[in-house]
Amino acid sequence: MNNVIETNSLTKKYGKNTVVNSINLHVNKGKIYGLLGRNGAGKTSTMKMILGLSSVTGGEVKLFGSSVKGNQREVYTRIGSIIETPGFYPNLTGTENLNIFARLRGTTKINAVKDALKTVGLPYGDKKHFSSYSLGMKQRLGIANALLNDPELLILDEPTNGLDPIGIAELREVFQKLCSEQGKTILISSHILSEIALIADDIGIIHQGNLLEESSMKQLEQNNEKYIHVCVSSLSAATQTLERQLDIKNYSVEADKSLRIYDTHIAPIDLNKALVMADCGVSTIQMCQDNLEDYFKKITGGVGIA
Ligand SMILES: Nc1ncnc2c1ncn2[C@@H]1O[C@H](COP(=O)(O)OP(=O)(O)OP(=O)(O)O)[C@@H](O)[C@H]1O
Ligand SMILES: [Mg+2]
Repeated sequence: MNNVIETNSLTKKYGKNTVVNSINLHVNKGKIYGLLGRNGAGKTSTMKMILGLSSVTGGEVKLFGSSVKGNQREVYTRIGSIIETPGFYPNLTGTENLNIFARLRGTTKINAVKDALKTVGLPYGDKKHFSSYSLGMKQRLGIANALLNDPELLILDEPTNGLDPIGIAELREVFQKLCSEQGKTILISSHILSEIALIADDIGIIHQGNLLEESSMKQLEQNNEKYIHVCVSSLSAATQTLERQLDIKNYSVEADKSLRIYDTHIAPIDLNKALVMADCGVSTIQMCQDNLEDYFKKITGGVGIA
């Protein structure tokens, strides 16, 4: 079983308003999956349905390989989450707060609080009250709280919200360790592309309730490689010239008789010459590179994700 989370046509409606529209999400075991979308895109609604905190209007959620229906009791004990900020007591320390939550949840693991605090890099037995924690410390305590029962899957709604770049980098390390050393799977959401790009192995882009794209970060980066964009009069003549004469195999054929050539060691001027000699007219030839931001703008219909 590879997918720890799988949704099939998962849908949420509030009245006539469809806020999650038939999405098929696939979160692989041991990976960090980033759900990226602007404010109001449907991230929290999706996570709440996965966690059974909100009813499903249509479709289904599969967790750990089986449908959640009828398995709720067994399944949800294997998951830790932060959806809304957990209500920590301001005038207690982090350790005291976690001790209370551990007792409430019937955590049986010895040293659960100590271990969870250590994992997120917070001190055990510290005297500082939650009210005087920095935002980064508060976020870490939330994650420690989600870790108390040593879950296989973590679902974290915007855990990097409000953190500075160093805080984000530190959390990234925490997440990566949880996956690589403990084999946990993590679904996180964010509205900030640069954060997801740094943290996630796989990415799902949600926009107005629709999952526009799901792919690995590696694949996305490849989509944003440098390439030569050529518009030609004959696709067959062009591909023959590329493959037989120039030994270029790494290219894609786009609509409107255009090609993207990722083998950029050939100079556009030489490529142009070879094509024209093969009786293939060239109307456009240019060196291009999408950056991730452009890419997201493109797939979200011209509206960028902040
Ligand atoms: N209880 C509710 N009743 C009615 N509409 C709701 C409810 N909860 C959410 N919505 C609507 O569903 C849509 C998606 O909201 P959701 O909270 O899932 O977005 P989000 O991607 O998490 O956004 P944000 O980045 O702001 O947290 C929004 O239009 C929101 O107004
Ligand atoms: Mg949200």
